[in-house]
Amino acid sequence: MIILKRLYEIKKMALAGRILGELFEILPDRLKEGVSTFEIDKFIEEFIFKNGARPAFKGYEGYSFSSCISINNEIIHGLPSKNKIIKSGDIVSIDVGTVVDGYYGDAARTYIVGTPKNFLDEKLVEVTFEALEMGIKNAVVGKNIGDVSYSIQNHVETNGFSVVRDFVGHGVGRKLHEDPQVPNYGTPGTGAKIMNGMTLALEPMVCQGDWRIDILSDGWTVVTLDGKNAAHFEDTIAIVDGQPLILTRIEGGFS
Ligand code: MF3
Ligand code: CO
Repeated sequence: MIILKRLYEIKKMALAGRILGELFEILPDRLKEGVSTFEIDKFIEEFIFKNGARPAFKGYEGYSFSSCISINNEIIHGLPSKNKIIKSGDIVSIDVGTVVDGYYGDAARTYIVGTPKNFLDEKLVEVTFEALEMGIKNAVVGKNIGDVSYSIQNHVETNGFSVVRDFVGHGVGRKLHEDPQVPNYGTPGTGAKIMNGMTLALEPMVCQGDWRIDILSDGWTVVTLDGKNAAHFEDTIAIVDGQPLILTRIEGGFS
């Protein structure tokens, strides 16, 4: 069941989202060679609390961190660790959720730390971000979820990369995960109609090679089966007056 939100609810989600937008602006300063992913997670957690929110992931299905930090061949759900030290050229995907007054925001960014190893890594990050942009642009009243899905898949595959099948975008609101599912692959004109008051987390997960995944023995970390690199971008959006409003960027949402 898709839960449409009233404007006052979308405004609360915008408060949760704005914190993520601000966080992702300042995170690059913290992503330096030699820093552990545990230290980054601690910084993120403090930032969230300082801004009057609570980390959405902590305690979610037994997850014990405030962020997921996934490096290179890790796609999503990487566990922050004191033993994981960031190196120059690493592709670092950071996924964070916040809760304000019972309403959730969910967003992710991928950064290349220091000097990129090659153009293909830069292209991967660029294309994944562009795919998110395409998905957002297609989330308008009159279209269907399948149009959003297809636009993401099409942009990724046109550029020679692949989209993960086993994990998908989702509705978000009073819970981190609500209906509908928003796959990063699909057929135009299919799936739920986009409606005013829908709140969605769009999140392309893109692989340089094959889309097949494996899960590490920690029970969380999702990696590419072929060992090639992956990237992940995510924004929470709300459909208002027929158009997508991006809640997890400092520009684009409510002021
Ligand atoms: N951000 C993920 C999503 O978009 C959820 C992370 S799982 C958690 O669905 F356990 F870390 F919370
Ligand atoms: Co999400």
